[in-house]
Amino acid sequence: MSVPSTADLVVVANRLPVDRVVEPDGSIGWRRSPGGLVTALEPVMRSHDGAWIGWPGGTDEIAPEPFVEDGMMLVPISLSEQEVEEFYEGFSNGTLWPLYHDLVAKPEFHREWWEAYVAINERFARRAAEVAAENAAVWVQDYQLQLVPQMLRELRPDLRIGFYLHIPFPPTELFQQLPWRRQILEGLLGSDLIGFQLGGGAANFVRLVRQRVGHKTHRDTVHLPDGRVVRAAPFPISIDARGFEELARSAPVEARAREIRAQLGDPDTVFLGIDRLDYTKGIYARLRAFGELLRDHRLDVEQATFVQVATPSRERVEQYRQLRDETDRLVGRINGDHGRLGHPAISYLHSSYPREEMAALYRAADVMVVTPYRDGMNLVAKEYVACRLEDDGALVLSEFAGAADELRQAWLVNPYDLNGMKDTLVEAASASHKEKHRRMRAMRRQVMENDVKRWADAFLDELLYDGEHDPSLRPPPRF
Ligand code: G6P
Repeated sequence: MSVPSTADLVVVANRLPVDRVVEPDGSIGWRRSPGGLVTALEPVMRSHDGAWIGWPGGTDEIAPEPFVEDGMMLVPISLSEQEVEEFYEGFSNGTLWPLYHDLVAKPEFHREWWEAYVAINERFARRAAEVAAENAAVWVQDYQLQLVPQMLRELRPDLRIGFYLHIPFPPTELFQQLPWRRQILEGLLGSDLIGFQLGGGAANFVRLVRQRVGHKTHRDTVHLPDGRVVRAAPFPISIDARGFEELARSAPVEARAREIRAQLGDPDTVFLGIDRLDYTKGIYARLRAFGELLRDHRLDVEQATFVQVATPSRERVEQYRQLRDETDRLVGRINGDHGRLGHPAISYLHSSYPREEMAALYRAADVMVVTPYRDGMNLVAKEYVACRLEDDGALVLSEFAGAADELRQAWLVNPYDLNGMKDTLVEAASASHKEKHRRMRAMRRQVMENDVKRWADAFLDELLYDGEHDPSLRPPPRF
């Protein structure tokens, strides 16, 4: 298939939705990469014939040529070893990530990291300016690329530019710590529309713009001196709910779910956690709570077991290395103290799995445990709900996950309150079938109705038509 040179919808994200892999025979191939963002945007890109600009992972001095994969035009941006260290591991994940997640870890501020962030954002903006057709829509994603909207607007004033932040936007008191706070705000203001997970993030942003940049604001809009208007609004992201439901319904997944339960010794209660191994996710706290429940004899290891999948992530960043060591130690201790032959307390899997295996795990789990200290949304919680075809199972969910706004019928917990979390785990596990059913049915309705397609359509409608989708008044989109 020949590669088109420009596109009418361009997604710009730090990662391409594929990873570059070297096959055993030495040839280069591409494999779908895991991660919420990819899962969320892929259906939209397929249906819109768009282009996706991003980093394929790894280090390369020269970017591979654009190529077509699964009906999408993919445009790789390469990063050198030093750029990965300073832009990706450094400013993105050592400065912004902890700062935007309530300082769960301490952010580091380094001027070289900032300079790399500016330079790489410039690289993405230039490439987007080349790939976007005239009057195209460009949708920039996430905290790694907050300067791109402004840079791109300078290069291509004809474009409609949207930005979506997948992680929380912090309260003003925390954001103010950032030495480059004004540049970030101005970078984002290059957009026509800025999407956040929750209304609180949008409000934080508008307040900061008023205080720090001095622009006039009115409710959710910012009025720039040149007359341009920028809107900041919540668009809670979701999942390919039907896709997950269908997968969960398929015979192989059902068989695999049964097999998993049998391998676990057919206990009464299977608790499940699935997360990137990240300090924001509260994995340590939830495993401690489970360990204490065994110690207190409120749970018995022959009747209850915990499966924790921890997907390797950002492994060269110091805080992530530490977290891995601490988690390894805790799991070892709990299994040593409470496991019995053939009955480990925790099955800890430091690995990533295909969607089929995830769906089987969701089907096999009685209680899904999602306990982040802070999370923009948390798509795992929604995936679990989508996979519970019979409206059964229980979701224990942190109040500090964006998903808690929509999934009100979950068993909500404060992950900092260990005793509260212990009580809730027991309560969720021992709830009556009727109670679980009532809660899950309401949550399933919410997730099935508000899927990722709806999310993307809402954002793109707003970006292209200011929310008034009346084709007789405005030119139709060109895709
Ligand atoms: C979060 C971020 C995404 C990121 C993903 C995986 O969901 O919001 O932007 O792609 O984590 O992290 P990684 O550092 O591997 O891209």
